[in-house]
Amino acid sequence: MSSSTTPSNDAQFPSADPMEILFTRQQIADRVQALGDQISREYAGQSVLLIGVLKGAAIFLSDLARAIKVDNSFDFVAVSSYGRARVSSGAVKLIKDIDNPIEGKHVILVEDILDTGLTLSYLRGLMLQHKPASLKIATCLDKAERRLVPIEADYVAFQIPNRFVIGYGMDYAEHYRNLPDIRLFPEELAGH
Ligand code: PRP
Repeated sequence: MSSSTTPSNDAQFPSADPMEILFTRQQIADRVQALGDQISREYAGQSVLLIGVLKGAAIFLSDLARAIKVDNSFDFVAVSSYGRARVSSGAVKLIKDIDNPIEGKHVILVEDILDTGLTLSYLRGLMLQHKPASLKIATCLDKAERRLVPIEADYVAFQIPNRFVIGYGMDYAEHYRNLPDIRLFPEELAGH
């Protein structure tokens, strides 16, 4: 069964079918369920607020929320993305805030990928100012070797090497987010 979508006519976004699968949809589902089970145990009898970072985390969050058996709700934030420039400047800016107060709530920040750590480091600091009862971090992928600031996730589905990945919410120029598997995007197409 093909896990890609109908090939685009746009040469910039070729079919993902030949691209190497890093994690299959089944492997992802198994790890998300394991994280959901762990979170359900650790937050037994409590409510959890999942805060996803748009846009990449949307798909992981929607699966994770359904894998968590304790009462949970979710919200989203968005931050500006400066691409590579962001890495050198370290500047991250909030462009969509949470809708409801988080004071006294058990919050889990949800990301698709933890890379340099700049985004989550910024968001963690911001969230802590609002005095949640607790604050943890869940990420689908962790590229630990790329870290520029010291931050670790409490829940990690997969550790990965420094490779360009697409699918399961992750994009190349806003495409391929809908792929159910996580694949390696060819470096020669990415242009770096
Ligand atoms: C990605 C990812 C994280 C961030 C991680 O977002 O979703 O938010 O980069 O990188 P960092 O650890 O180096 O800060 P991106 O800017 O690609 O936006 P997207 O979620 O809309 O794809």
